[in-house]
Amino acid sequence: MKLFDVFPLFDLNIVKGKGCYVYDDKGNEYLDLYGGHAVISVGHTHPYYVEKVTDQLNKIGFYSNSVINKLQQELAQKLGEQCGYPDYFLFLINSGAEANENAIKLASFHNGRKKVLAFKKAFHGRTSVTVATTDIPSYSAPVNENPNITFAPFNDIEFIKKKLATKEYCSVIIEGIQGVAGIQIPDDEFLKQLREVCTQTGTILILDEIQSGYGRSGKFFAHQYAGITADIITVAKGIGNGFPMAGVLINPMFKAVYGQLGTTFGGNHLACAAAIAVLDIMKQEKLIDNAYNIGQFLLEELKKIPQIKEVRGRGLMIGIEFDQPIKEKRSKLLFEEKVFTGATGTTVFRLLPPLCLTKEEAQIFLDRFKKIV
Ligand SMILES: Cc1ncc(COP(=O)(O)O)c(C=O)c1O
Repeated sequence: MKLFDVFPLFDLNIVKGKGCYVYDDKGNEYLDLYGGHAVISVGHTHPYYVEKVTDQLNKIGFYSNSVINKLQQELAQKLGEQCGYPDYFLFLINSGAEANENAIKLASFHNGRKKVLAFKKAFHGRTSVTVATTDIPSYSAPVNENPNITFAPFNDIEFIKKKLATKEYCSVIIEGIQGVAGIQIPDDEFLKQLREVCTQTGTILILDEIQSGYGRSGKFFAHQYAGITADIITVAKGIGNGFPMAGVLINPMFKAVYGQLGTTFGGNHLACAAAIAVLDIMKQEKLIDNAYNIGQFLLEELKKIPQIKEVRGRGLMIGIEFDQPIKEKRSKLLFEEKVFTGATGTTVFRLLPPLCLTKEEAQIFLDRFKKIV
């Protein structure tokens, strides 16, 4: 059997990782400014994380959601405290798409409405409703066509007011910072007004913090820069530092009904052990402050590079836009300078490093980056 060829691959076999570095099977060391696509939050093979996951595996890796799982309760408690939503409920699943799928479903169960308002250039996943709320037509199959989705221009509150006034929309879903769109930050004032109009019209505000959340922006959630609260928040990527896991954070106004949501693997013992370890490390090592500080340093230094058209971002979620395609530059950076980065579209580098990136490592990145621009 061969692998289904849907990913354009770099000719590299990564076999090892430590902190902000990864290593290929030939022993080459790469600085990881990509974090495996924003997934590595506390660093590769962090010793505390490895110990906690290994310990748990030696006890029990999995049992079903038909019994009490104290690890889920511990995770919910710690997450609530650290993220600033201590009174919210937590529902655990396995991937970002699943989190958004459940969030939209929950909103629709709650107010009985069918329509969803999403944003131009949004990415929310590849399952049925999430791919319909993703503004990338080539990702949708005919079966995913959904007449209930409206795409609003980013930051356009007047358009949204008109749509939500119909009271046909169950929810608005918006990324804390648009990632796939090339690091686009919603205006704080726009988010405040969006919050208001959602409240006025009984529309559920869903914040997709799958990429921008879990400390990446320099706050636990990117939307906290605007001083607003969301009705539902979705998280994934960094939550398990590579262990597949996701969560839906749910306002206490939602009623839990047996059978409405469910999952086989979600919130299993091993995943919870990984997620608890991540929160412990984030707290212990003050990784959110680190993301903010190193992010500021990178943003300031990158803005000094004249070849760059624009630098956007918050914390360690940074987009670097050029006038021309970056394919060759990115390839040079990887194969000659040994630095992993992400990309979006043809002209934007995306930096999504582990949140433990040090100033020295950030400087190494800058030195190598300057060589290829
Ligand atoms: C903002 C956002 N939402 C949802 C997803 C989907 O997550 P997953 O690939 O875990 O399903 C992603 C993944 O890149 C994302 O960046």
